[in-house]
Amino acid sequence: MTTQSSRKKPSALLLLGCLVIALLIAVLGLTLSTRPSPVTQPDYEKYYWQDSKYKGVRTRISKQSGATYTSLLEYPVTKNQAVNQVIASQIDNFDKAFHEQIASRLPLKGRHFEQNTSYQIVRMHEDFLSIEVVTSRDIEMAATEHETAFWTFNLATGKIVTLRDIFGGAASDGQARLFIYIKQELARQAAKRDIALDPMKVAKVVNADHLQSFLAPDADTIRFDFGQNTVAPAADGPVTVSLSIANLQLFLQSDEARRLFDIMPINAAPEWRAPQVTKGTVDCNRAKCIALTFDDGPGIYTTKLLDILQQTHAHASFFVIGKNVAAHPETVKRMQAEGHTVGNHTWTHRSLPSLPANVIDSELTQTNIQIEKATGIKPTYMRPPNGAIGPRVYDALKRANMTAVLWSVDTRDWADRNTDVVYNRVVTGAKPGAIIILHDIHKTSVDAVPRIVKTLQRQGYAFVSIDELFGPNAAPGGAINHAN
Ligand code: NI
Repeated sequence: MTTQSSRKKPSALLLLGCLVIALLIAVLGLTLSTRPSPVTQPDYEKYYWQDSKYKGVRTRISKQSGATYTSLLEYPVTKNQAVNQVIASQIDNFDKAFHEQIASRLPLKGRHFEQNTSYQIVRMHEDFLSIEVVTSRDIEMAATEHETAFWTFNLATGKIVTLRDIFGGAASDGQARLFIYIKQELARQAAKRDIALDPMKVAKVVNADHLQSFLAPDADTIRFDFGQNTVAPAADGPVTVSLSIANLQLFLQSDEARRLFDIMPINAAPEWRAPQVTKGTVDCNRAKCIALTFDDGPGIYTTKLLDILQQTHAHASFFVIGKNVAAHPETVKRMQAEGHTVGNHTWTHRSLPSLPANVIDSELTQTNIQIEKATGIKPTYMRPPNGAIGPRVYDALKRANMTAVLWSVDTRDWADRNTDVVYNRVVTGAKPGAIIILHDIHKTSVDAVPRIVKTLQRQGYAFVSIDELFGPNAAPGGAINHAN
């Protein structure tokens, strides 16, 4: 007010200028009004602020209405500018799409369009913010359209945390495994909830190029909210996929991932010790040693696999399921007799980290008893189902004087069931000291073994058991995933 009153009176020339501009605006408005777009021009616009229930987060609400529409947009405003910008620009994009949709419709009388865009804080962590924006549009009376966008932000950097960040690189096994789990979970829900999953849409969306953002509702869960029409027909609505971190934490070893999901680092490989080899003549200090490991058996292809290993003078390790040992004790006895390591893969193959301590103990003990019955030797190595390990599992391992054997080469043979793919993953991943995970319950995996052994033996590799690689009882209470 003070600045205005201290000003000189506007000159006549300036008045004339204003008049011309006003006239121009009027003419422009008239021309625009003959085109279909004025439906999108708000007659009413209001902004106001609201506190959220989260400290340091406010909501800027924009209410707009025009002749044919009403629109409500809620913008979260945090203390982090970069975060606000990413979210606001997504909301603006949703808004733009809404107005484009209106403009593309004939302006029929009585037709009314509605847009509602709101956000939800999925998790507020001291270093991270997981947040989702959902927009719903009533374009035609019958169908509401939903779209979602979600992110987990690193609040220190203001950057979006991507799957690449938490899995440590684009080529990581973890990302590939995650996408398989997402597809499995989508298929499970499709069967359960009668959703007509669209494989083309799924393939388009669930891959490293299109899916990098995620939600982390708590330290044990990773979540993806697929909006309407993203993975299934619009009529089936949105689909949410929540996955337990337990099955992925082996791959979540980046600093950011550990903080976000409270992941314990996998113990470093134990100090190298000269293998106490009694069965063979391999000295892994000199030879390029590599360990093939087979999980989930014994099954119907296991004897064939034992024949192949015998013929090629290769040793391996078998992580057997207690129930299967009870069904095929003679096969397990043969494993031991022919120089392979027989390890424990639990009784029921349940994911261990969230089970009560006494259940974890019994999963291990029951299986150990069966193995000892078959071979005469109590196992010292075990492999946790899905590589899922955590504080309670480590405690149980200490009690049982056992070591978890993880892996350094993931063939994902259970997902692909393709002999060439398995062969290629093993051969390209091979390194001295590598531990390779396979499953002898799949014919395609057993069929890949002769070529794997032949190729790598030509490159000078010796196939050894875990006993040969580490000694009969290395790092009890801990985990190993490769040698040297
Ligand atoms: Ni398994």
